[in-house]
Amino acid sequence: MDAIHIRGGNALFGETKIQGSKNAVLPVMAAALLIQDVCIIENCPRISDVYHMQQLLESIGCRVGWAESTLTIDARNISHDTMSGDNVTGMRSSITLLGAMLGRTGEVTMAYPGGCVIGERPIDMHLNALRKMGVAIYEKEGCFTARTEKKMEGTVIRFPISSVGATENVILAGVMAKGVTVLQNAAKEPEIVTLCEFLRDAGAVIEGIGGSVLIIQGGHGLHGIKFRIPADRIVAGTYLFSVIGTGGNIFLEDAPTAQMRSMIQAAEEIGAQIHVTSEGIHVIADEHRRAVPYLKTEIYPGFPTDMQSPLMAVLTTAQGVSVIEEAIFEDRFHIIGQLEKMGACIEQQGKRQAVVIGVDSLLGCEVTARELRGGAGLVIAGCMALGETVVKNRHFIERGYEDICRDYRNLGADIRTG
Ligand code: EPZ
Repeated sequence: MDAIHIRGGNALFGETKIQGSKNAVLPVMAAALLIQDVCIIENCPRISDVYHMQQLLESIGCRVGWAESTLTIDARNISHDTMSGDNVTGMRSSITLLGAMLGRTGEVTMAYPGGCVIGERPIDMHLNALRKMGVAIYEKEGCFTARTEKKMEGTVIRFPISSVGATENVILAGVMAKGVTVLQNAAKEPEIVTLCEFLRDAGAVIEGIGGSVLIIQGGHGLHGIKFRIPADRIVAGTYLFSVIGTGGNIFLEDAPTAQMRSMIQAAEEIGAQIHVTSEGIHVIADEHRRAVPYLKTEIYPGFPTDMQSPLMAVLTTAQGVSVIEEAIFEDRFHIIGQLEKMGACIEQQGKRQAVVIGVDSLLGCEVTARELRGGAGLVIAGCMALGETVVKNRHFIERGYEDICRDYRNLGADIRTG
């Protein structure tokens, strides 16, 4: 069955190593397409989104191989420029191949990307930016063709709001365009920094890395490199909040602590003791959890939207009333109904706000995941709940967590697939 079984109610003790970052490795895989050479990418998480991206790269002629968690991408010979099928519609991050394909071949046809049920997920900013760089977009029946009659032209682009994916596409197009591209209001997430560092190591010239204004000089030749993907801050945050929900004492090896300040701040506000070392994060929590009077998800370095569901699960048994505002996506509260089945008391106020009134404990039952991070939140709730919890639709969770049962078993949880 496509489910996870958890017998909860016990504190977590132990240590687990944090996998490589999903949201960093996917744009890096797309960037490898720009390099007519071989790239060796270390610390890649073995997750379904990466396998889907691998299939997309192979479908256009790349040769991709694995050795444990090291991915080798040979993009010397690519064959054609049409992408379609489930791998594109089933995975939103395939949109990052748009900028890479335009940079490499000047043309690509793809289906509109799919994605989670967390919001409309438009790509208007991606397409408008590429149009400004000289790309023509032809839309038809759920697909579109993007084509540059001549080389893309660097220009000044200003995003109305911060967008991780749109920033990634402009970076990928910009390194191959003629001239300089200035991107204002660029996203500053760590995954953008990783993409820029990968491209810079391969020969690109990008200034302002980590800031909201990126200056990308096109036309520099790119060469194959060996590169290591940083640990996944959202996976680390998921496990950090888990022990706050259950109580216990855990160590998260390799956790990217510098990228987790907002999560650590929220964890300490709830009552956890956090010790950051050069090797990772040590988290100690007892059964006393304080409510968080108000927390709003924000762009980096604010509290990440991907941690909103895991946080909500933990706050269901905090002492007091917590208010969570989801400011990034318009429909990211699917977990509420499932947590209520477990005994949580949550009032949703419109699409963007939830009021969580702490209860003594959750009770295990069968719940259903509808998207990746909501699913992770339900696993946390299962670890907290008395009795057995069955989280259905494990496949959503496997999009981003290499082996969530392995990791939780390392932390002493009674958990299995089934
Ligand atoms: C990336 O999605 C991540 N996915 C998401 O993680 C993450 O939640 C999100 O960034 C925000 O940090 C990957 O990196 C693969 P956005 P992305 O463009 O790029 C609106 C997970 O669980 N927008 O920054 O799609 C959009 O609707 C996933 O790992 C437009 O209006 O996010 C949203 O409201 C979930 N027009 C806001 O911007 C556009 O053209 C931020 O979206 C593009 C975006």
